[in-house]
Amino acid sequence: MSDRISSVLTEHRQFPPSTDARKGAHISGAAALKRLKAKADADPVAFWEGAARALHWQAPWKQALQWKVPQAKWFVGGRLNAAENCLDRHLQTPRANKAALIWEGEPGETRTLTYRQLHRDVSRFANVLLGLGVKKGDVVGIYMGMVPEAVVAMLACARIGATHNVVFGGFSADAVAERMNDSGAVVLITQDVAMRRGTTVELKLAADAAAKRCRGLKHLIVFRRGNGTVPMKAGRDHWWHELMEAAPATCPPVGLDAEHPLFILYTSGSTGKPKGILHTTGGYLTQAAWTHKHIFDLRDDDVYFCTADIGWITGHSYIVYGPLANGATVVMYEGAPTYPEPDRFWAMIERHAVTIFYTAPTAIRAFMKSGESWPRRYDLSSLRLLGTVGEPINPEAWMWYHSVIGGGRCPIVDTWWQTETGAIMISPLPGATTTTPGTATQPLPGILADVVHKDGTPCKPNEGGLLVITHPWPSMLRTIFGNDERYRQTYWSEFPKSRTCPGWYFTGDGARKDKKGNIWIIGRVDDVVNVSGHRLGTAEIESALVSHKTVAEAAVVARPDEVKGNALVAFVTLKHGVAPKNLDRLKAELREHVGAEIGHIAKPDEIRFAEALPKTRSGKIMRRLLRELVTGGAVQGDTTTLEDLSVLETLRADED
Ligand code: WT7
Repeated sequence: MSDRISSVLTEHRQFPPSTDARKGAHISGAAALKRLKAKADADPVAFWEGAARALHWQAPWKQALQWKVPQAKWFVGGRLNAAENCLDRHLQTPRANKAALIWEGEPGETRTLTYRQLHRDVSRFANVLLGLGVKKGDVVGIYMGMVPEAVVAMLACARIGATHNVVFGGFSADAVAERMNDSGAVVLITQDVAMRRGTTVELKLAADAAAKRCRGLKHLIVFRRGNGTVPMKAGRDHWWHELMEAAPATCPPVGLDAEHPLFILYTSGSTGKPKGILHTTGGYLTQAAWTHKHIFDLRDDDVYFCTADIGWITGHSYIVYGPLANGATVVMYEGAPTYPEPDRFWAMIERHAVTIFYTAPTAIRAFMKSGESWPRRYDLSSLRLLGTVGEPINPEAWMWYHSVIGGGRCPIVDTWWQTETGAIMISPLPGATTTTPGTATQPLPGILADVVHKDGTPCKPNEGGLLVITHPWPSMLRTIFGNDERYRQTYWSEFPKSRTCPGWYFTGDGARKDKKGNIWIIGRVDDVVNVSGHRLGTAEIESALVSHKTVAEAAVVARPDEVKGNALVAFVTLKHGVAPKNLDRLKAELREHVGAEIGHIAKPDEIRFAEALPKTRSGKIMRRLLRELVTGGAVQGDTTTLEDLSVLETLRADED
């Protein structure tokens, strides 16, 4: 089969950086960016060395990059501590008493922790871990909701050189057990309960069930979020607050090798056993901090709100390590975006006078679905910059975000990256880049990426192909924990080192590059559909559907068809308040709409209306399940990462 992916989305609106966005920006104006990029791309290693110098090093590195495909070591010989960079460093500056975290609980309480206070709690908790026998290099599990203590736990691990393994608080006991066992965790930190959607989630009971199957787990530490009436196993389980009371408040940050493992984070992808993505200290922190500062164009008086969960890489890099290394004020929210009403984020932006807001396209589409009357009730004028991450943002959602949330004045940074890349790789720089809805624009300075054919030859402008990274970058994953061979196979076998290729990282994404050099992500290559010999990215067809006034969200998959090879099935959810009298007429209208937007060949053969689409807990549509549904009716694959199983049951019932 050919490797060509036809790209059919056309979008040309341009948004050059405004005078306001350029004024005082760290990188101001297209010419400045062009100069910086030319220099950085000619010598990425020197560029990232410059970025690394913004951190505090206990000992300097001797060699900036040691690269033996696919094994990278950055800042070899250097020693540093991530927690020291995120905390201690600020205590000698006027930031000492600045808010590091402004936290809002779902029920409505708020807590503010200054850098000094966060430093004290982290030091105490580091002593708690040491007291339980945790040593440098041990793995510590964190299975918590969005509470400041989750950040404290992560940084305390970093302080003593323990490697944290955060498991999203919405995952089941099974998922926790698998991830603890695979990583060999010795301690698990959890809560009695987590607060979510107005009720409590029994985290401790799930942790207990997991611990039963984890022989290596010696201790459970339980933070009390609810009323604390949970079973505690004597000798194994400890209350967070009791240990903290007894712990000394000073704990020096240990000097760690730049390549010391900072964390493991499991990513499931759509198939197979979860992969323990391993990130190390110096390179990761360098790129997390540089990208956070420059892409969000951080100023000292910013109030920055990232809506991700700490259980995902976005939470690691852009709630914890990037922002805190830069001394930013971070707003952290515990609960559901729709609690008690679908206006929670907007209320929080007004309440805390948020200036930078970073969220996901799936959330934006959900807000569009519930209607703009919700954000309209709030004063969002403090905002000056918006960001998105997680999947291609359809131009419709981009425009809504731009006008309704950003008041037409805020630049939008559409940031492309992956759990594996550790930090942002492709993104506009708000004071310098002209943006167009739907593209993450260009690789950052010092990041070399390309769109190529399967044989490694570059694609022509606008020709769809495979997105590769052609030079190692500081925050790249170092391996899949305990499985170097799977690491090589998954990311480095598509374009291995050869006479003609130095060895490239394959992202798994399809993309095209336009004439200006902007990269348009078409989606995961696994999600590409083949219709009458054309390979189409489902994201583009979905984007066309969503540009219709009645549609909130869409997912397109293929089912085998005797004539066309494949037929396209579109699952569509309608906007709030849309109640079509004649569903068949609407189906016909939607097919015509796609035909008009991108052409006849992309018209779905079948449209099914649904109440909701099956999504992972991080909001990605699980097209694999829909594919299984339309091909055989049965869903056989793994559904443990599905956010809400009932969605699938409803879809299946519609089928019968
Ligand atoms: C995949 C990585 C990185 C944090 C959240 C997701 C897709 C991510 C974008 C974007 C188009 C995007 C890609 C990528 N993706 N950001 N701005 N535009 N697609 O992390 O779960 O590791 O997923 O998300 O397909 O490969 P992840």
